[in-house]
Amino acid sequence: MTATVKPRSEGDSETFIDRLQEDLSEDLGATEALLHTRAASPVAVIPNLSGYIVSAGGKRLRPLVTLAAARAVGETSHGTHALAAAVEFIHTATLLHDDVVDESDLRRGKKAAKNLWGNSASILVGDFLFARAFTLMVETGNLEILDILSQAASIIAEGEVRQLAAAGRRDLPTEEYLAIIEAKTAALFEASARAGALSAGGAEHAEALAAYGRNLGLAFQIVDDALDYGGTTSVIGKSVGDDFREGKVTLPVIIARRRGDAEDIAFWDRVLDVDQQRESDLAHAIHLIRSTGAADATAAEARAYAELAKAALNTLPQNTWTRALRQLADFCLNRVN
Ligand code: IPE
Ligand code: IPE
Ligand code: MG
Ligand code: MG
Repeated sequence: MTATVKPRSEGDSETFIDRLQEDLSEDLGATEALLHTRAASPVAVIPNLSGYIVSAGGKRLRPLVTLAAARAVGETSHGTHALAAAVEFIHTATLLHDDVVDESDLRRGKKAAKNLWGNSASILVGDFLFARAFTLMVETGNLEILDILSQAASIIAEGEVRQLAAAGRRDLPTEEYLAIIEAKTAALFEASARAGALSAGGAEHAEALAAYGRNLGLAFQIVDDALDYGGTTSVIGKSVGDDFREGKVTLPVIIARRRGDAEDIAFWDRVLDVDQQRESDLAHAIHLIRSTGAADATAAEARAYAELAKAALNTLPQNTWTRALRQLADFCLNRVN
């Protein structure tokens, strides 16, 4: 079975992720097959909606982390593939829920599922995928893996709620921002890597891989938050400025506000109240994030976490897969979508 993850068009330049998907094509093919078959249901909206978002692409980063982590320390098996499919299902479920919560209209370069099927269907199919993820976890036959992923699932939800409470909080401390992204994003990367090691019999390396996943996840989300101001809608496949329009306080904003003069601070304090935002405010926000050096400082912060991720791999056997995991950390820094 070959992986048909991302239909690539002629002229697309091959990225590191394309190559990693190819290198892991046997494992990823088995994982993709599970993503397809386990979304089956006689209730047509379920396979229709889930098939729509699953086949819209997506980088498959979390299953790639699971599979590469497993191969770095041992052998992959059905349990590893079930785990890889479970983490992608959890991720997909959070995206379905997230686009409702964030009122986002674009996901993976296409209309968000909620714009086609409505909010209720999006939430409920997300719940279905969550439940199917648990069935897949049971198939790993490893209670510790079930424990790791069920804990991660509750931490993600906590992170999302914590973020909701922080919306519009002008003086959000960096520590609180980091706690939010550690929960909503890094916890799943951490679980993907840790459980990947366990699924391959590499328990002695699980802690190091967990540290890799956590730091990779932090770097990944910081870059994501930078792309919300520095990216291009057609390239990121999501609408630039979504965070801004929601009054979400992310690292580029925290740094730009901290470095701003009185006028800049007054600007941030007005626009972080979404009811007071005007059409032209996003462009000025992007300008301030660049001109105060907040964009560069955000990138540097992401780089520091990516370096921690790579350093966590030093105690592992050094092989093709540990090399791939290091390159994955660099990819996450330089990614454009
Ligand atoms: C998007 O994750 C959600 C975040 C945690 C920022 P990805 O960028 O990995 O999403 P896909 O799966 O590639 O679409
Ligand atoms: C994505 O978070 C969902 C989770 C991490 C649970 P965001 O809202 O920050 O990501 P995008 O920008 O919509 O992908
Ligand atoms: Mg969102
Ligand atoms: Mg969100």
